[in-house]
Amino acid sequence: MEITKDIIFVGVNDHDVDLFEGHYIVPEGMAYNSYLINDEKVAIMDTVDAHFTEEWIGNTKAALGERTPDYLVVQHMEPDHSGSIRDFMEAFPAATIVSSVKAFGMMRNFYEGEEFAERRIPVKEGDTLELGSHVLNFVAAPMVHWPEVIMTYDSTYKVLFSADGFGKFGAHDLADPDDWACEARRYYFGIVGKYGMQVQAVLKKAAGLDIQIICPLHGPVLDKDLGYYLGLYNTWSSYAAESRGVVISYTSVYGNTKKAVELLAAKLEEKGVPEVVVNDLARSDIAECVEDGFRYDAQVFATTTFNNDIFPFMKEYINHLTERNYQKRTVAFVENGSWAPQATKTMKGMLEGCKNLTYADNGVRIVSALNDESRAQIEALAEELAALYK
Ligand code: FEO
Repeated sequence: MEITKDIIFVGVNDHDVDLFEGHYIVPEGMAYNSYLINDEKVAIMDTVDAHFTEEWIGNTKAALGERTPDYLVVQHMEPDHSGSIRDFMEAFPAATIVSSVKAFGMMRNFYEGEEFAERRIPVKEGDTLELGSHVLNFVAAPMVHWPEVIMTYDSTYKVLFSADGFGKFGAHDLADPDDWACEARRYYFGIVGKYGMQVQAVLKKAAGLDIQIICPLHGPVLDKDLGYYLGLYNTWSSYAAESRGVVISYTSVYGNTKKAVELLAAKLEEKGVPEVVVNDLARSDIAECVEDGFRYDAQVFATTTFNNDIFPFMKEYINHLTERNYQKRTVAFVENGSWAPQATKTMKGMLEGCKNLTYADNGVRIVSALNDESRAQIEALAEELAALYK
């Protein structure tokens, strides 16, 4: 597939992966992108997961025709992109690897001491590589998503090869081409969400470049409405809310907390909150829940006291949020406990390191099951949260 007349897609689709990166379900599979730049010199942009080496080298050879590659640019060493480096170097003995110093160190670790000492060009921020008419400019992008990452800007043809940046879950032949944001958001907050500051630093560099096409290592090539994608990345990486509304994240053991959550959701809708989303943390994909937690500007946490702590799915969920720097949101709590309710105190304690959280004045305490007192608390909380949107 041609991206431009001399940039050719040579990546692969993975329909077999059960858990991407060992923990993300990917119902639409995954794509490992790789690109060939056909100029006086030929460069290949990244390899693919080791399960697809043969297919990828086949794609590369088909795109090469009679030519051989001069360079393999390794932007990121996570195995979904670096898994075929050694096979590539064996298949193409004249090729040289171009990558960051840190990446060569990782190569040594992934490949049993192999660091391609005679066949490598280390590059850093500001270095360039001329292929002929294409000039590749290397941009350091540490922690987007590993420390060794470089992105590559083709300044002649205005193409940004963005490594994991602007990637999404989904194989090219299964993912909905008209819905980029849903799986890109889940991917972003799951995988890169902790590193908002580093993504902001790269966006600042990108703002100084004329970018016409973004070629990420996952998901579709972006060549239209780039302001939309850059804008979402700016929102996400600055931890601003993307959407106005309340997400209620809950667990319920026997259904009593669930009844409280359903009542609260109904009241929030009645009172005009623009969007109300309810997630049962025990029965939902945790990455979807994390995505919603960051998407909306208010969140209600509802759970049960359990083993002198809180219910495990809520504990895990809050850990996912805090390790990704959850901040700048309005939060409220619903707790349930049959003899010593203390879930609100525990949840607040877990969130205490988060910056710029606004705590609702009202909270809900259920002692086993709803009663008039807790229903009144739900009414008051709904009123307070709904007032945020008036
Ligand atoms: Fe797509 Fe961080 O690997």
